[in-house]
Amino acid sequence: MKKTDHVLIFDTTLRDGEQCPGASMGLQEKLQVARQLEKLNVDIIEAGFPAASPGDFEAVRQIAAGIRKCRIAGLARCVPADIERCAEALKPAGKRARIHVFLATSAIHRQFKLKKAKDEIIRQAVEGVKTARKYCKDVQFSPEDASRTEPEFLAEVVRAVIAAGATTINIPDTVGYSVPQEFRTLLTYLNEQVPELKEVTVHVHCHNDLGLAVANSLAAIECGARGVECTINGIGERAGNCSLEELVMALKVRRDFYGIQTQIHTSELFAASRLVSQLTGMMVQRNKAIVGANAFAHESGIHQDGMLKNRETYEIMRPEDVGMATGTDLVLGKHSGRAGFAAHLHRMGIKLSADQLQSVYHAFIALADKKKMVYDDDIIELLSEHLSDVPRVYKIKYLQVSAGNRTIPTATLQIEKDGRVLEGSGTGVGPVEAALKVIEELTNIKGELISFGMQSVTHGEDALGETSLQVKFGDELVAARGSDIDIVMASAKAYVNALNRYLFRQRDSVACGAKHSM
Ligand code: KIV
Ligand code: ZN
Repeated sequence: MKKTDHVLIFDTTLRDGEQCPGASMGLQEKLQVARQLEKLNVDIIEAGFPAASPGDFEAVRQIAAGIRKCRIAGLARCVPADIERCAEALKPAGKRARIHVFLATSAIHRQFKLKKAKDEIIRQAVEGVKTARKYCKDVQFSPEDASRTEPEFLAEVVRAVIAAGATTINIPDTVGYSVPQEFRTLLTYLNEQVPELKEVTVHVHCHNDLGLAVANSLAAIECGARGVECTINGIGERAGNCSLEELVMALKVRRDFYGIQTQIHTSELFAASRLVSQLTGMMVQRNKAIVGANAFAHESGIHQDGMLKNRETYEIMRPEDVGMATGTDLVLGKHSGRAGFAAHLHRMGIKLSADQLQSVYHAFIALADKKKMVYDDDIIELLSEHLSDVPRVYKIKYLQVSAGNRTIPTATLQIEKDGRVLEGSGTGVGPVEAALKVIEELTNIKGELISFGMQSVTHGEDALGETSLQVKFGDELVAARGSDIDIVMASAKAYVNALNRYLFRQRDSVACGAKHSM
């Protein structure tokens, strides 16, 4: 396999990640994620599947135009119309464009999905690659369901597409069926049977159905694969894809074993994780490796004692390595000045424009008024809420709830829109439902709550509570989060954030047609 001096990170959060149920993002949200991926320094961003819908096409086109440092890939089936559409969307990326064509090769897909014999598969794959090469020098081919394909046939397909001009060969474990030793055997077999692989770059694309996506990707690196396809927080179809942060940190922490690194700026990992969780509404489980809230928490006395004597007794990496604030340093109080606040942000590595600083400073003072101690995590939460690109068309001015086991839960709310204050009250089975019903009445926009979750994001009894929810407005599923020291307020804010995001997407004015299913 062609050797590079580092493992290429091919991020597919915006394509495979976005295919995850409920994780769909609007155009501006995709651009926000792409900018964070650029900060992370990923090598390739798979920006979408342009033929799937006009919305996907536009997202790929705008990411290709707006991102300058990474290669931009678009996905296409091995059919001319898909490839032409993909090439068109990728035009603004110029030489940094990559067309990624795929075709299933396993017996079960050939027989039941494609109804095609082996020779037809080879012919279509070769035609797909040749067509893509007419538009682009950088062409990737993926034999979908490679790990369940007969190895001899897989080798035949790979040989044929390299001859046709593919420059990257990706070996997907599409249904997350493989186990590390078996995946290693498959890659070793391909290396032996297809010496042409030395002339191209080999990627792997592992799904996590058995929780083995990272392990299988690492096994492939041991066999010479030099590109790993992954997503932030491991989101993706079903159980998801290989988690970018886990793979990158495994290579970094165990550089003694693997001896090869990625070029990822790991101090951006936590910010990337928070952003994707915020925009998709998919919470990160507390015990998730690398970016979960407990990833660096030490609870037992024995562990804490060891940590105090030497951090390395129980810590194999530092929270700051992944950009996670430690949460132990008490920040300023409500009497802190703007300059002191700005200096603290600077120490946290956060640079804001004067307008942004103004907005976040006000929010910080309001929080410091209610909360005894403001931690770095509180500030990160404020930043994610106040620096969103989404205009705050509706804003909650006031919320009062009465609830308990002997009263009918009631909420009274004031919401501001265009300088006008709307006020109303109502009841529900609980205070959260009461508040959400009032918001619906005041805004006259109907939404169906699809998912709802809460967790505390910071420390202590006065910790910030965070609500993540998904709401369906018409056909559009929108995710959002909200945080506050009051959990009903956090929920109301999350709902209003979802509403504002929905209005913003409507304004994006890209008429999104139905997506193809793959
Ligand atoms: O899982 C898969 O096989 C894919 C391909 C399109 C690479 O996502
Ligand atoms: Zn996939």
